[in-house]
Amino acid sequence: MPHGRITGWATHLPDKVLTNDDIAKMVDTTDEWIRERSGITSRHVGGTVTEMSTEAGKAAMATAGIGPEDIDLLLLATCTSDQQFPSSSAVVQHALGLTCGAIDMNAACSGFVYGLVTAMQFIDGGLDRVLLIGSDALAAITDWTDRGTCVLFGDGAGAVVIERSGEEPSLLGWDLMSDGSAAGILYCDHGGKIVMNGKEVFRRAVLAMENAATNAMDRAGVTSGDIALVIPHQANIRIIEASFKRLGLPMDRAAMVLHRTGNTSAASIPLAMVDAIDAGRIQPGDLLLLVGFGAGMSSAAAVIRWDPPQA
Ligand code: UT7
Repeated sequence: MPHGRITGWATHLPDKVLTNDDIAKMVDTTDEWIRERSGITSRHVGGTVTEMSTEAGKAAMATAGIGPEDIDLLLLATCTSDQQFPSSSAVVQHALGLTCGAIDMNAACSGFVYGLVTAMQFIDGGLDRVLLIGSDALAAITDWTDRGTCVLFGDGAGAVVIERSGEEPSLLGWDLMSDGSAAGILYCDHGGKIVMNGKEVFRRAVLAMENAATNAMDRAGVTSGDIALVIPHQANIRIIEASFKRLGLPMDRAAMVLHRTGNTSAASIPLAMVDAIDAGRIQPGDLLLLVGFGAGMSSAAAVIRWDPPQA
């Protein structure tokens, strides 16, 4: 039986770049503080979910060498849909010329991995091709007067085409989790701005990353030594460092774009993954660990074998 594998990928970032020095003109902060406490130097802002998703989705289909008529389902992971309804996926579906179902999925920053696992189930259920997009426009819901949050977030999108064409399974193990008891530590009300207890999110994030990664690796029957590259949610370099330490992983095995994107929520993992592909850091056969956490609190991890179509 053929299995789902990633056959196309692309990202999109809005043109406008906001540096730490730009933010230091808006709130009482410094470039040094932001870099030391988060690892972020700049971020892109000014995107909408529908625009960014459309650009990334179009480019991912081009990489896969397929057209809109080939896609059987659009999954759009986002927590910043442009409207209450219709779903942003409905708007993106039309913009891309797709003729298939379209679903928004909200698992906040864990959304891309939730979407990947979900897409693989649809492929196992009989679909041939799913377009999965992770896209968030956090700048629009950021409180630009709150130095405790505004230094962290940015906008972006990343997309993959998942096709039922692999000879071996590429999704080897996964873990999805949600702990609604922590819903109040990171949230945004309708029409409101992001509210966050940064210290508590940090503490829980390190544990959630460790748990999700461990569960996914256990289910895949692999250990951290087998993982060629980890693609962590890009929220804070210190969260990544702390969770890597607990997992016994060296930092040189992390895909990183955080310094130039900030935290882009559901877009962060595909942005880091595509950056690593472009940099030649991912080779056919490599085992990748995708792991993230976010509001909810949600967490998610997946171990995949990189199995792109051979040229
Ligand atoms: O996708 C999930 C999204 N969220 C996250 O991942 C957030 C997780 N949390 C974090 O990343 C960190 O907690 C922050 C980066 C938000 C904050 O870093 P921290 O090391 O936990 O700092 P802190 O909140 O303990 O604040 C330390 C000091 C405080 O001053 P005092 O009380 O020691 O005098 C803050 O008022 O730093 C101050 N501070 C700042 N100073 C300069 C807080 N924000 C800033 C700032 N610039 N932007």
